[in-house]
Amino acid sequence: MADTIIAAEDPSARSAPPLPSDSVIVVLGASGDLAKKKTYPALFGLYRYDLLPKGIKIVGYARTKMDDADYKKRISSYIKTPGAEDEAKLKEFLALTSYVSGQYDQDESFQVLDKHISEIEGYPDESHRLFYLALPPTVFTTVSQHLKTNCYPKKGSARVIIEKPFGHDLESSRELQAALRPIWSEDEIFRIDHYLGKEMVKNILILRFGNEFFNASWNKSHISSVQITFKELFGTEGRGGYFDTFGIIRDVMQNHLLQVLTMIAMERPLSFSAEDIRDEKVRVLRAMPVIDPKNVIIGQYDKSPDGTKPGYLDDPTVPKGSRCPTFAAIVLYIQNDRWENVPFILKAGKALDSAKVEVRVQYKDVTSGIFKDIPRNELVLRIQPDESVYIKMNSKLPGLTMKTSVTELDLTYKRRFSNLHIPEAYEALILDAINGDHSNFVRDDELDASWKIFTPLLHYLDQNEDIVPVKYPYGSRGPEFLDDFLADHGYSRELDGLYQWPTTRANGKI
Ligand code: BG6
Repeated sequence: MADTIIAAEDPSARSAPPLPSDSVIVVLGASGDLAKKKTYPALFGLYRYDLLPKGIKIVGYARTKMDDADYKKRISSYIKTPGAEDEAKLKEFLALTSYVSGQYDQDESFQVLDKHISEIEGYPDESHRLFYLALPPTVFTTVSQHLKTNCYPKKGSARVIIEKPFGHDLESSRELQAALRPIWSEDEIFRIDHYLGKEMVKNILILRFGNEFFNASWNKSHISSVQITFKELFGTEGRGGYFDTFGIIRDVMQNHLLQVLTMIAMERPLSFSAEDIRDEKVRVLRAMPVIDPKNVIIGQYDKSPDGTKPGYLDDPTVPKGSRCPTFAAIVLYIQNDRWENVPFILKAGKALDSAKVEVRVQYKDVTSGIFKDIPRNELVLRIQPDESVYIKMNSKLPGLTMKTSVTELDLTYKRRFSNLHIPEAYEALILDAINGDHSNFVRDDELDASWKIFTPLLHYLDQNEDIVPVKYPYGSRGPEFLDDFLADHGYSRELDGLYQWPTTRANGKI
């Protein structure tokens, strides 16, 4: 535990009171991948920094029959304990956990769960329970109903965390929300989009509204385009069955990248309260027209040029001849005074040449005259890896010359905040849910507005069999004509060959 975490809750952001001490967190789907890889490591992360309520108990629930030792082995498998102190903390943490196995559709199973919770929770006549549904969406509703009937506190409080996918289009999303509405009130539901828990995404509001020089230039008069890029090195590699039913647009663009876009584009909220922030996000989404298919390119990765990496269609879990996009670039517009005609380009792909997520705000050309071909400024927010904010700017080359050079103002977190712990997104979000702060969770009307923008395009792609994604080689930058597409939408890439951000120049070593 070498690094320090700064944790100070903002009570004004709360929309519900924080969970009191001696509450219970119930992880449903405790034997699954999400729980193992994300939920439990995040709960442990919070525990090791003493951020969970005192006396908390954590109950796992799933269909798999496991004894206590198997359960604890499974949930520890992704928890890192670099030092002896962490090992000791893990032992303490595991002592707070227990496991109940049962079905997802039977009252009797949930009655057993309820009895177990009642035996371990801290209050004789009231309960405070947080249900984390680390489950596939097919069982969200059934499990919610059974929890309501059998495990809902008669006195006290309940809240529930659910995870995407929240439907696959506007209609199915509405059906899901309609099914959940009679069970959980909007105040009880915490819909996770884990991008909202990432450190740099949470920084966007501060950078924009806490710095007058950004705030003043944040509009169509100064900004030429905004690009939000998501790149992964790997293909589906055996996970093709799940991915194929969604495709890259539903998997990361309609949710994660659109969330980042709304944070970049929204107006200044009245306060940092959850509803003020979410009101502004919904307002900007409502100003976005549906996506025009002319402003979209889709791709699907093929074998690597040396043949060592398989193409998407070579994955045995992918249906033969699938037209599923593994890459897409989509241009969106916002019809308001601040952003009219400024392209917001979302770009995402699997099996590409690097792994990174970043926002690139490209400014307009300076007025012509005294400079010849001087490059544009760019502000880059590196969301991951290596959280950073840097501005590409022009400066005089030192010496007896008036030559200019592109250089940067660079805030690289590992250098500037070297002793501070950057929380995992799930740590930040679970803590928010415990504290009753909805700011970084998706509200129902926000979900609706985001599906409205994407659904016509998704249906168009699903229904037109003659639309086939363009092939790109595994490990490349994406389809060959990507640069032309970006240039058509006003993005100038002329400099990238010359300029390299120093962090990447040093082979990623900071
Ligand atoms: C998930 C997608 O929501 O986000 C995955 O289903 C994707 O396909 C993942 O890999 C990316 O998350 P992160 O935090 O690794 O950028």
